[in-house]
Amino acid sequence: MDMGRRTLSPDGALLLSIVVLVLALEGSSQWGIEAAAEVRSSTSRRRSRRTIGATCDVFEGRWVMEPSYPLYNASESCPFIEREFSCLRNGRPDLLYTHYRWQPLNCNLARFDGQAFLERLRGKTVMFVGDSLSRNQWQSLTCMIHSSVPNAKYNVTRQDDVSTFAFTDYGVKIMLDRNVFLVDVVKEDIGRVLKLDSILGGKLWKDLDMLIFNTWHWWNRQGPTQPWDYIEVGKKLYKDMDRMAAFEMALKTWGGWVDSNVDPSKSTVFFQGISPSHYNGTLWGEPKAKRCVGQKEPLLGSTYPGGLPPAVGVLKSVLKNITKPVTLLDITNLSLLRKDGHPSIYGLSGRTGTDCIHWCLAGVPDTWNEILYNLIL
Ligand SMILES: *[C@@H]1O[C@H](CO)[C@@H](O)[C@H](O)[C@H]1NC(C)=O
Ligand SMILES: *[C@@H]1O[C@H](CO)[C@@H](O)[C@H](O)[C@H]1NC(C)=O
Ligand SMILES: *[C@@H]1O[C@H](CO)[C@@H](O)[C@H](O)[C@H]1NC(C)=O
Ligand SMILES: *[C@@H]1O[C@H](CO)[C@@H](O)[C@H](O)[C@H]1NC(C)=O
Ligand SMILES: *[C@@H]1O[C@H](CO)[C@@H](O)[C@H](O)[C@H]1NC(C)=O
Repeated sequence: MDMGRRTLSPDGALLLSIVVLVLALEGSSQWGIEAAAEVRSSTSRRRSRRTIGATCDVFEGRWVMEPSYPLYNASESCPFIEREFSCLRNGRPDLLYTHYRWQPLNCNLARFDGQAFLERLRGKTVMFVGDSLSRNQWQSLTCMIHSSVPNAKYNVTRQDDVSTFAFTDYGVKIMLDRNVFLVDVVKEDIGRVLKLDSILGGKLWKDLDMLIFNTWHWWNRQGPTQPWDYIEVGKKLYKDMDRMAAFEMALKTWGGWVDSNVDPSKSTVFFQGISPSHYNGTLWGEPKAKRCVGQKEPLLGSTYPGGLPPAVGVLKSVLKNITKPVTLLDITNLSLLRKDGHPSIYGLSGRTGTDCIHWCLAGVPDTWNEILYNLIL
């Protein structure tokens, strides 16, 4: 199992080959994952098998038109979709953005099959942990499964910050733990303290079969929506500090939690990478753009002119230091190209607000889940 100790590398191809190797090693005991994914030849539609591995970084590619997408009609086949992500119901008139499929450069992704997903996960529990981007991906996955297997009975419950979407016939639970920083925020006499080296919230994550973490967007909050008054590191309190440095310390604390609490023969750990927002058109070569408003098409090609958000580098450097296997869902590049994918003025606050952070459903998070599906199939 020594190979399983290094899962992440800055080199894309190497990263995937190691990830697949780790998955294969873990798989024999846990998911029965094969180091091969079924792929469909885009030209002939003939089904063939090709290794996603040495030659293929699934996160490197481009968006292509695919008339058979989206995978579901949110207003018709996803009755439980939240208004926040339901751009169709909120009146978004253009639909082109729902007809794109992610095409990796060197291999093809198998199309999502809800039945296969439920069979693979029978009796298991998956938990998303993080902020509203985790909720976005959680909701996408439940919509994808439900519309793919509409007769599978389901039950949605919520207790405190944890929502559970159960597919009862399969014993599959897809859970969401809302926890925006991963580390703790504690109410004390002086106020709310963000504790960068405390992660008691982790008690909810122990021994689950699959975990998908995320944190980033709340680290930059200031003013009335900042949900803490002090930051604590060691025994010291600070009124504020460099947010990127705080983010990095919290990620290291989380990495320490993974190393001391995860049993890789029981649990598979993913990190949902940094999900980008689109408020500055200069970054995609359209300086006159009003945030993401009115964007109807993705950027073609594989390169985002504005480059990667700096948080990505911080995240990757911390992940490299974690000893236990953690797979990065490296969704930043592919999502950066999707300036058209956000609710914009068809989100929660309607025309009075502009949401260029979250993603419409059906939409971009379906691709994150399709990639996840390919990695565990
Ligand atoms: C993501 O974008 C960065 C910056 O444009 C680039 O260096 C990197 O190779 C890209 N990664 C993938 C997997 O496409
Ligand atoms: C989704 O279903 C609704 C209700 O049947 C229909 O009016 C709408 O055109 C469909 N939308 C898409 C994008 O297929
Ligand atoms: C839904 O889940 C709750 C909590 O586990 C349980 O009490 C309830 O009986 C379930 N309902 C159905 C219809 O399965
Ligand atoms: C948008 O991005 C450009 C290029 O990085 C930068 O110069 C500019 O200040 C940004 N504009 C805003 C409003 O942040
Ligand atoms: C990674 O580990 C090395 C050696 O323990 C340490 O010096 C470095 O600061 C760590 N970096 C990160 C980003 O965790």
